[in-house]
Order: sequence, then C-alpha cells, then structure tokens
Amino acid sequence: MKKRTRVLPIIAFALVAGSALHSFADTKPNAATLARGKYLVSITGCNDCHTAGYTMVGGQVPVNQWLAGSDMGWRGPWGTTYATNLRLYMQTISEEQWVTLAHSAQMRPPMPWFALHDLNERDLRDIFRFVRALGATGKPAPDFVPPGQTPQGPFVQFPMPPK
Ligand code: HEC
Repeated sequence: MKKRTRVLPIIAFALVAGSALHSFADTKPNAATLARGKYLVSITGCNDCHTAGYTMVGGQVPVNQWLAGSDMGWRGPWGTTYATNLRLYMQTISEEQWVTLAHSAQMRPPMPWFALHDLNERDLRDIFRFVRALGATGKPAPDFVPPGQTPQGPFVQFPMPPK
C-alpha cells in the first residue's frame, strides 16, 4: 500500500504531461503549414494595408513585423477605417471562429472581405496558423471614426463612389 501511494502521483503526472504534449502536437502547426500560410498572406495582399508602410518600401518589412495593423486612416462615405492589428486579433479567436467569420463577415471599405469569402477552408486555416504562430505584437489600430467626424491622425481621402 505504501508503495502504491508513491506510484500513483507519478502515473497521474505522466498522464497530465502526456495529454499536454498531445494537445501541443495537435495545435502546433508544422513547417509546411507555416510556409504555406506565409506564402498565402504575401500573395493575397493582406500586408498592403495591415502592415504599416508595407507598400512604400517594396514589401521589405521583416516578417516578425507583418500584420501589426496601421495608423493610416481610410476615409470615405463610410467614415474612417483602420486596418486591424491581426497579430492581436488572431490571438482572440479560435481557428473555427476564424473560418466561420472569414466566410461570412462583411467589413467596411477598403477591406476586401468578399475575397476572404472566396478563400477555401484550407487556405484560411493555413493563414490563421501562420499569423497565430507569429505571436501577438504591437498595439491595436485606432478606432473607427464615423462619417462626418474628422480623424486625428493621417488618412487617405477616397472620392465619392461612382453613381
Ligand atoms: C485595401 C486594404 C486591406 C487589405 C488588402 C486587407 N485588409 Fe483587412 N481590413 C482593412 C481595413 C481598413 C479593416 C477595418 C474594416 C472595418 O473597420 O470595418 C480590415 C479589417 C479586417 C479584419 C476584421 C478584423 C476586426 O477587427 O473585426 C480582418 C479579419 C481582416 N481585415 C483580415 C484581412 C486579411 C486576412 C487580408 C488578406 C487576405 C486582408 N485583411 C486584406 C484593410 C485591408
């Protein structure tokens, strides 16, 4: 009996450690997924808006600074929008929530949300895993400014849409 009390905690520890390792293996994306996620992000243009200054330096922004949002406002009849810090955003939702949201959400201009609707599930999952693995960084982008109010920081003014 004395022996058993010593063995049981060891078994319990092994079980907990084993299940932790198991769930780690389940959630940690493999190198191919991460490479594909990175490739998809770079060709679908997310950085153009969600990475500050990206298009001004020919895309020469280190990967660890990608998708941290931007202070550049996009102002038009819809108000002024700011490209979200996706490094923070992806930490707040699950992969399943991301897939659902990306296939259904409608956002304000100039976010091409309709292109997210067209990405297939595998692409969305690889993008999510890549961005999630990059980790949280930076601060949240400025809040949306409603139409008729002047934004504080820099903004791009869009003309009225064609009639
Ligand atoms: C032309 C600029 C532009 C491009 C390109 C772009 N976005 Fe956005 N994105 C925005 C803006 C601006 C917003 C904020 C929209 C709003 O306030 O409704 C936004 C919002 C989002 C949101 C919503 C986050 C939230 O806070 O609810 C997600 C998710 C997102 N973008 C993902 C992406 C992904 C993934 C890509 C690449 C496939 C991408 N975006 C490409 C400008 C862009």
